[in-house]
Amino acid sequence: MRKKIVAGNWKMNKTFSEAEDLLFDIADILKENRPSGVEVLVCPPAIYLELAADIAQENEFSCGAQNLSEHESGAYTGEISASMIASTGAKYVIIGHSERRTYFNEKDTLLAVKISQALKHDLIPVYCCGEVLAEREANSHFEIVGEQIKKALFHLTPDEFAKIVVAYEPVWAIGTGRTASPAQAQEMHAFIRKVLAEKFGVEAANDTSILYGGSCNAANARELFANEDVDGGLIGGASLKAEDFIKIASSF
Ligand code: PGA
Repeated sequence: MRKKIVAGNWKMNKTFSEAEDLLFDIADILKENRPSGVEVLVCPPAIYLELAADIAQENEFSCGAQNLSEHESGAYTGEISASMIASTGAKYVIIGHSERRTYFNEKDTLLAVKISQALKHDLIPVYCCGEVLAEREANSHFEIVGEQIKKALFHLTPDEFAKIVVAYEPVWAIGTGRTASPAQAQEMHAFIRKVLAEKFGVEAANDTSILYGGSCNAANARELFANEDVDGGLIGGASLKAEDFIKIASSF
């Protein structure tokens, strides 16, 4: 079901007590000023998932992980499985973030397995795609993003695909302060929807939430979210302050 979602990707930030403070700050602001018709999703480091899921449940927001193992269970030291994530009460998992692709060498074929693994355990994947600067400058961004979508999502059945959330995050915009223009975001989101429609049909593509990520903040969220095919945001830096984060979630 297509819905508006604003998700905070905390990345590798916050100690336990800082995480607790941020979660309660988010809950307090939502009590006073809940944006209507928007799902607020918080994705803290995995070690805080149980805490986050409890606070989220009591305060009507959602919580998700930033990554998961492609394996079911067993001798994979340091890894965290889909069933473990689901057992904390978390509902979502980010898959294919550009930092995982770059620093942990995650390829689309692996990400396809991770997507299936998440779905098997009833976690909703937030599948990230996006081109690097050289690819945009070479005008190959549509081809790159189209391939990322096809390779990681096209093996899904229609029922499985119906659960997917997509996040378009141009890598040149992540953590750089250089946001995609509203027109660039809309153009790529419409393209992603077209690629999805070719495989899964127009109705299924129109039912898919496609979020924008990359230096999205309280000052620029409104003009990004005003676009027809932009259904919300995946927010990094600006999700680490409760006020900014909820301001972004209120920018529709
Ligand atoms: P940013 O990160 O908002 O700090 O650019 C977005 C992301 O990486 O998801």
